[in-house]
Amino acid sequence: MKAVVWNGPRDIDVAEVPDPRIEEPTDIVIRVTTSGICGSDLHLYETMAAFMDAGDVLGHEPMGLVMETGSAITHLRPGDRVVIPANIACGHCFMCDRGLQSQCETTQVREQGMGAPLYGYSKLYGSIPGGQAEYLRVPRADYGPIPVPEGVPDDRYVYLSDVLPTAWQGVDYAAVPEDGTLLVIGLGPIGDMATRVAMHRGVGRVIGVERDPVRAARARANGVAVLEMDDRADISEAVLELTGGRGADSVVEAVGMESHGSPLARAARAAQTVLPDAAGQALMRTVGVDQLASLLTAIDTVRRGGTLSVLGVYGGMADPLPMLVLFDKQVTIRMGQLNARRWLDDLLPLVGDEADPLGLASFATHHIPLADAPQAYEDLAKKRDGAVKVLINP
Ligand SMILES: NC(=O)c1ccc[n+]([C@@H]2O[C@H](COP(=O)([O-])OP(=O)(O)OC[C@H]3O[C@@H](n4cnc5c(N)ncnc54)[C@H](O)[C@@H]3O)[C@@H](O)[C@H]2O)c1
Ligand SMILES: [Zn+2]
Ligand SMILES: [Zn+2]
Repeated sequence: MKAVVWNGPRDIDVAEVPDPRIEEPTDIVIRVTTSGICGSDLHLYETMAAFMDAGDVLGHEPMGLVMETGSAITHLRPGDRVVIPANIACGHCFMCDRGLQSQCETTQVREQGMGAPLYGYSKLYGSIPGGQAEYLRVPRADYGPIPVPEGVPDDRYVYLSDVLPTAWQGVDYAAVPEDGTLLVIGLGPIGDMATRVAMHRGVGRVIGVERDPVRAARARANGVAVLEMDDRADISEAVLELTGGRGADSVVEAVGMESHGSPLARAARAAQTVLPDAAGQALMRTVGVDQLASLLTAIDTVRRGGTLSVLGVYGGMADPLPMLVLFDKQVTIRMGQLNARRWLDDLLPLVGDEADPLGLASFATHHIPLADAPQAYEDLAKKRDGAVKVLINP
């Protein structure tokens, strides 16, 4: 079959790879009908090169049709439509029982000291072949796949794999007080969806920060007050002005380690990207790789006693943080990988609602065939051609 593979830093290809097959009784194989490209994939594109191998199949936002089922699968049959959550989890361990599927104790990637695996997301997350491909093997299919009704477009359901539960979790963790202000930093697909979820959940006031004019305009069209600037001091000042000098009650950080405005970290990261794996991994632990500009903005702009909800992915082990400021401001921080299935009861009625309250039907900016994926990665990384959310239809 054909699949999107990582060849090296900034080198994505569409290649012929072996067809997936049933390996365990709890597996299924699906034919992928839609598969998202995520801002998280851009971290693999460059920064996390030390944890990638040439030929790794990318993608953790797939949906499709069941082709084949393992002998232990009784609730799905060939032809069923399913969305595949990004996390691979068992559904019945201590962590899954507590809605922490990203920490599943049955599937944790223990040899790397990491939580539950993700499709197509490097050695750190289990080297599981991803879903930007014609077919996908789905392990733990007795728990993971979410059935989708017939007759509705993929675009309404595909975001259940990652974008929707991530945005929902981010807003939940932000714990915005009644009549409070939520600041969302970064308005890519994740930050954009977080603003939509927040407004839907009745958050009084939603302010966004974004430097890309296309993304700023998208959020503005939905009623978000967007600060379109990239200088940390200017943003902090503007947020203080808008919040009576206090700062936002809650901040969602939706940028992560590719944040613009961190020239020193960018140089260290560029070095790490081209080093051999062992040296690159070591550099990550000693010099750090995170570009912290947006996280520092979040720390500047959250009010004293407020909550910071970090959705952006960070990967460094040695990046300095202003601990004095965090301590003195008494900030609550929540963060981490999405727990996709945790939020299904909240999300299913929304994606099923014909009125489409979150605007899912028009959320994607591009639909492309598999062959165009390398160009789409480049366009997303360089923010060209109005690319915000790209869906692949293999
Ligand atoms: N926690 C999770 O489970 C989870 C799930 C999905 C995505 N993510 C992460 O969420 C983040 C956002 O994902 P996405 O798909 O929207 O990515 P994206 O790259 O499309 O969006 C990031 C946005 O941040 C903007 N930006 C960059 N630097 C900025 C700065 N200094 N200040 C303000 N804005 C800035 C960019 O212009 C861009 O629009 C990524 O780090 C991604 O890895 C986390
Ligand atoms: Zn994703
Ligand atoms: Zn589990």
